[in-house]
Amino acid sequence: MSFRLINSLIVLSFICCSGCDSLFMSSPAEFKLSKRTKSLHGPAKNAVQRNLLDKFGTPVDMKAWERFPINYGSIKGKVKEPGSSTNAFSVSFNNEQEILPENSILRWLTGSFAAAEEDLFRDIPIESYSAETGEIVLAKKLSEDPKEGDQFIINPGFVLQHGRKLYMTHCLHCHGVSGDGNGPTSEYLNPRPRDYRDGVFKFTSTLSTEKVSHADLQRIVKKGIPGTYMPSFMLLKDDELEAILSYVQWLSSRGELEKKMVAELEADYSTAAVRSRKKEGETSEAISKELQELLSVEFSETVDGLATEVAETWTRANSKESLVVPKISRVPDSPESRQKGRELYLSNKAKCATCHGPKGIGNGPETKLFRKIPGTNKEYDQPGLFDMWDKHVKPRDLTRGIYRGGRRPIDLYSRVYSGIKGTPMPAFAGTLTDEEIWHLTNYVMSVPFEGQSSHATETEKVSQK
Ligand code: HEC
Ligand code: HEC
Repeated sequence: MSFRLINSLIVLSFICCSGCDSLFMSSPAEFKLSKRTKSLHGPAKNAVQRNLLDKFGTPVDMKAWERFPINYGSIKGKVKEPGSSTNAFSVSFNNEQEILPENSILRWLTGSFAAAEEDLFRDIPIESYSAETGEIVLAKKLSEDPKEGDQFIINPGFVLQHGRKLYMTHCLHCHGVSGDGNGPTSEYLNPRPRDYRDGVFKFTSTLSTEKVSHADLQRIVKKGIPGTYMPSFMLLKDDELEAILSYVQWLSSRGELEKKMVAELEADYSTAAVRSRKKEGETSEAISKELQELLSVEFSETVDGLATEVAETWTRANSKESLVVPKISRVPDSPESRQKGRELYLSNKAKCATCHGPKGIGNGPETKLFRKIPGTNKEYDQPGLFDMWDKHVKPRDLTRGIYRGGRRPIDLYSRVYSGIKGTPMPAFAGTLTDEEIWHLTNYVMSVPFEGQSSHATETEKVSQK
């Protein structure tokens, strides 16, 4: 088992080798590069690939870069005092630690055992730990007492590795090895499984400018997305869910960093850019030299900065300031409120009907227009709306009462307030007042029951409880 710690980057070589994971064995042990990365000029492409490999490793040999706010599951600590024997000593952890998981392993980060060439004393099973005395007993005697202050890590990347295994079983066939939404089953699905690499998630409780929160991801995976193939994983235990989410966030961060690196390089060093620079008279040598200099001098700092940006968006999404919080509580549902909502729905101010249609069945005039493919002069071969993944997307049929982002009034409020990220469903935060959004919410919730008798309104009241 190999181990390195570089700039707080922990290499998690596989502890599991006893025939587990057959699915994993048969799947490619490499992450795919994105199309955009592949369109870079050779040396630029290699630089992106090398950075990804350095910072994230491969699916077999993952690396846990502590730059990202991901729960990798590692427990860090140091020796407080040598004890009665070389394998018993008291410790202090960086974070309070009541118990250790079963079959925990201690890996030395500093001190004489960390430096040891052979693995003999480096990864050692822990026999017991007592929070009361703070004493750890290792399953194996060491050649000498560890020194006060020697640092260690327990179960490096434990949670991430657990997550990876669960992901392979439950998610990979739709979301793919690289989290690109291209798993073997995905081809037949509409909407397609999410491509995590963009870091864009649709059904969030956060502002339109912010990412998905941890609580949103928990909800999505537990409950699934009604009306799509995204299943509910109610049966996952809490620690399993957390492990999967670590892995999803890790895949997502990896993809985001890839995308950002490409964005830095692509203007000057895509294959096409290099070709046109040559046409304009620059020599291959001059371009190569310039790129080489960029890659060897500035680029690692650039990558560092980009990773920090990615990390910050994940952290910020969990702060209170990022949450959608209506300034007034829900306007009580009433015929008057629904009527006001209905008027807004049809109005020029909200324009809901231009997409969702006057009756809400999702057939407004916007669905009949042919649109240009972004960045080109060509039109899509079918009319209507497209999402950021270039997939055709229909405005929701509101008469069906199936809401992918949740059916509570606050969910619908958030949908209208923040829009649906990555799709043409706009955010109305700046356009509509809180009161107006509540009227719209009341109206939207009544659409499935429109034209039914007052008896139906009673049924609806019951079903909303
Ligand atoms: C049968 C296919 C399938 C499986 C299996 C599956 N998903 Fe999905 N998933 C989807 C589809 C389809 C969507 C997109 C739905 C949409 O766009 O409305 C999705 C979307 C998501 C999203 C994005 C939600 C958002 O708001 O943007 C997350 C996160 C997610 N899945 C996580 C998981 C995890 C974790 C697992 C495994 C525990 C998993 N999925 C298993 C099909 C699947
Ligand atoms: C430019 C077109 C467009 C406009 C304008 C628009 N929508 Fe949408 N809306 C969409 C699309 C597209 C979706 C489906 C997105 C997806 O899930 O991929 C959607 C989805 C929805 C959903 C489903 C939410 C869920 O959880 O499933 C609701 C509710 C909704 N819109 C309400 C509204 C209301 C109310 C307005 C006006 C204030 C409005 N929309 C304006 C395009 C639009």
